[in-house]
Amino acid sequence: MKIEEVKSTAKTQRISAHSHIKGLGLDENGVPIQMAAGLVGQESAREAAGLVVDMIRSKKMAGRALLLAGPPGTGKTAIALAIAQELGNKVPFCPMVGSEVYSTEIKKTEVLMENFRRAIGLRIRETKEVYEGEVTELTPVETENTTGGYGKTVSHVIIGLKTAKGTKQLKLDPTIYESLQKEKVEVGDVIYIEANSGAVKRQGRSDTFATEFDLEAEEYVPLPKGDVHKKKEVVQDVTLHDLDCANARPQGGHDIMSMMGQLMKPKKTEITDKLRKEINKIVNKYIDQGIAELVPGVLFIDEVHMLDIETFTYLHRALESAIAPIVIFATNRGRCQIRGTEDIVSPHGIPLDLLDRLLIIRTMPYNKAELLQILKLRAVTEGISIEDDALSTLSEVGASSTLRYAVQLLTPAQLTARAEGSTKITPAHVTQVHRLFLDAKSSARILTQQADKYMK
Ligand SMILES: Nc1ncnc2c1ncn2[C@@H]1O[C@H](COP(=O)(O)OP(=O)(O)OP(=O)(O)O)[C@@H](O)[C@H]1O
Ligand SMILES: [Mg+2]
Repeated sequence: MKIEEVKSTAKTQRISAHSHIKGLGLDENGVPIQMAAGLVGQESAREAAGLVVDMIRSKKMAGRALLLAGPPGTGKTAIALAIAQELGNKVPFCPMVGSEVYSTEIKKTEVLMENFRRAIGLRIRETKEVYEGEVTELTPVETENTTGGYGKTVSHVIIGLKTAKGTKQLKLDPTIYESLQKEKVEVGDVIYIEANSGAVKRQGRSDTFATEFDLEAEEYVPLPKGDVHKKKEVVQDVTLHDLDCANARPQGGHDIMSMMGQLMKPKKTEITDKLRKEINKIVNKYIDQGIAELVPGVLFIDEVHMLDIETFTYLHRALESAIAPIVIFATNRGRCQIRGTEDIVSPHGIPLDLLDRLLIIRTMPYNKAELLQILKLRAVTEGISIEDDALSTLSEVGASSTLRYAVQLLTPAQLTARAEGSTKITPAHVTQVHRLFLDAKSSARILTQQADKYMK
């Protein structure tokens, strides 16, 4: 199994609607602070979420599942993301939306499986023989091409490495020069080179260079201690899906057909059940030998009522397996029909047997004061200046419609204010845009009132 050059496949996504959320906002006893870390109110749900975070950290939660249930706009997605923030980047967190399973190309269960494995981490510790230090010199030594071509080839590369204890000059194979180039190593970087494989890892820029102005955020690392040539414990955090991907690259050679194949189907790699089983076997071996440690992460399935009976059944089984993450569901549905069935109605659209295994956290509608606080937070995050009166008008709008609608009115109101040459949003601007746009409830009311005017 390949673990040398495993690339992280973690999903990156913009979650701008929740960018103000930095955590659960609990004190050291796990009691929620009314307004902290970007979250407001919803205290019991946040306290419960805090307990879940503790259970995940102490690894008592694997294979269990949690449901966040409550009306729209009551902060379910927000709390799930806060849980992710609390867990930090060492614990994998894989967010998905129920409807993601419906694709014409990939089987529903395949999508679920992939996300399951994205949510299971593996921390691999290996003691490796390495050369480590700050690069003091990097000189490729060229010779005339012996095969009679025009260009020159690199015969070897001279590299100087410095640690707090000493310096060493190494003469390296040209293949290592390639990996040095791939990692974009320059003089002043701290790197290590594995003695066995020749793999190069750039750890960051030496902090003696930290005063320079850099456009890009660089990671500065201290000058390594100890000798240049030493044994070093290397820790790698990967997910099972990273391993699947790294080992599933098309095995094709360099002939034209297989190169074409790769062009036509970019990044499409076949991860088979057989490969997964194989990887599980090796992972288990590593765990037994104490080289690797399993880090169960979180799979967050938002809008879980979008799943159908087939995927629910599959989920249920996957939760029972030996290697399973913690699953967090969220839904705003009450009793509704389970997708893919003719007539089975169930709470939250989740089959009863699965529901029976869940811990449920309820979220409640906000009162006006809380709405005002949340709107204020959003205004600050979006860099919108708004008068206090206008905020309270807006929170009234939020109370009679939904929080989300009120949040969405912020930007149009700002534009209106600007058009009128005002820097701050006033209550008049809020009423003006509220008249222009409809919230879901009013829209539905109009639809029923004027049903005869619309096409059926
Ligand atoms: N307690 C809170 N503190 C701060 N911001 C919140 C809070 N609750 C919700 N928000 C913000 O309000 C907006 C709507 O909340 P969110 O999307 O979490 O609702 P939801 O319960 O997931 O709704 P739905 O059921 O429609 O998915 C988001 O921008 C969210 O960040
Ligand atoms: Mg949501």
